[in-house]
Amino acid sequence: MAASVRLLLRRAIRLSHGNTNVTAAETAGRSGRRLAPSTCRCFGDAAGDRSTHFGFETVPEAEKAKKVYKVFENVAHHYDTMNDAMSLGIHRLWKDALLHAMHPQPGAQLLDVAGGTGDIAFRFLEYVRSQRERQRRRAVRAVQTPSWRDISSSYSSEEDGEEAGPRESGAVVCDINKEMLKVGKRRADSAGVTAGLSWVAGDAEELPFDDDQFDIYTVAFGIRNVTHIDQALKEALRVLKPGGRFMCLEFSKVTNPVLARLYDAYSFNVIPALGEVIAADWKSYQYLVESIRKFPDQEEFKFMIEDAGFFCVKYYNLTGGVVALHSGFKL
Ligand SMILES: C[S@@+](CC[C@H](N)C(=O)[O-])C[C@H]1O[C@@H](n2cnc3c(N)ncnc32)[C@H](O)[C@@H]1O
Repeated sequence: MAASVRLLLRRAIRLSHGNTNVTAAETAGRSGRRLAPSTCRCFGDAAGDRSTHFGFETVPEAEKAKKVYKVFENVAHHYDTMNDAMSLGIHRLWKDALLHAMHPQPGAQLLDVAGGTGDIAFRFLEYVRSQRERQRRRAVRAVQTPSWRDISSSYSSEEDGEEAGPRESGAVVCDINKEMLKVGKRRADSAGVTAGLSWVAGDAEELPFDDDQFDIYTVAFGIRNVTHIDQALKEALRVLKPGGRFMCLEFSKVTNPVLARLYDAYSFNVIPALGEVIAADWKSYQYLVESIRKFPDQEEFKFMIEDAGFFCVKYYNLTGGVVALHSGFKL
């Protein structure tokens, strides 16, 4: 009931402004909500004058994607080492938490956007492999000591022709940056992970996939780099199957003020310095830290996901809000 009233209100706002393509920031602004810095667009007189942020810098919108591309091209070869160094290895726990919340089953098809060097896809394939193994062991046990339920379900699955089992799971890593993909592919080859994995160069704002293709869409530490987050969210909705799930890991707002001050001191002083020592690149890592501060907080990002058309949107804070895991469904 509340959802349908909200939908009607949203439609009425759109009609009253004669615009069917209202961005999250615009809707938020009209309804008096705080505008998230990264969704604010400054409009100049001419259409080409739009500006946005690149870290703490203000740049023309058309420039941001090129600058972001350069950052990840520069960091690609040190990306995994730097991730461990900057987060003291904790990024692995955040990614594990994503998989744990996702709990994918054999047969699931994943699209990992801004997937970089493949961390999420590798975890996904490993997770479904262990699920499949667990199910296989359970089936063997059931054959050795069948209960009446096992016997009856084996008859019904034979009748339904279910013997073949679910189809293979697949993971597609999609990233705009060819260097990041190259490093990822090399990692996959040396770890012998190739089955069910593909690498696609593509922009989150204009995904090179048909509608209704994937069961799960993930984006980990990538969406804050995208110029038009609202457009990327719409694309996520488009490529998911009905019932599919959107999941995003992103740096967010630390809720505890003491932890927030420590975290600020660490990120502004230590991270660019680590970047300089490990990758001889202070500026790229300064951008990464600044871009975190420009990203909407947990609640604002939740509104944006809802505005894109997702349902049951929730988020969970990890490490006191250093990172938030947002989740929503396409219905
Ligand atoms: C911080 S990395 C995250 C990589 C990986 N998801 C992880 O968690 O380790 C951000 C990634 O976003 C990618 N990216 C930035 N803008 C993008 C866009 N518009 N479309 C697709 N990928 C993008 C970058 O190339 C980079 O690989």
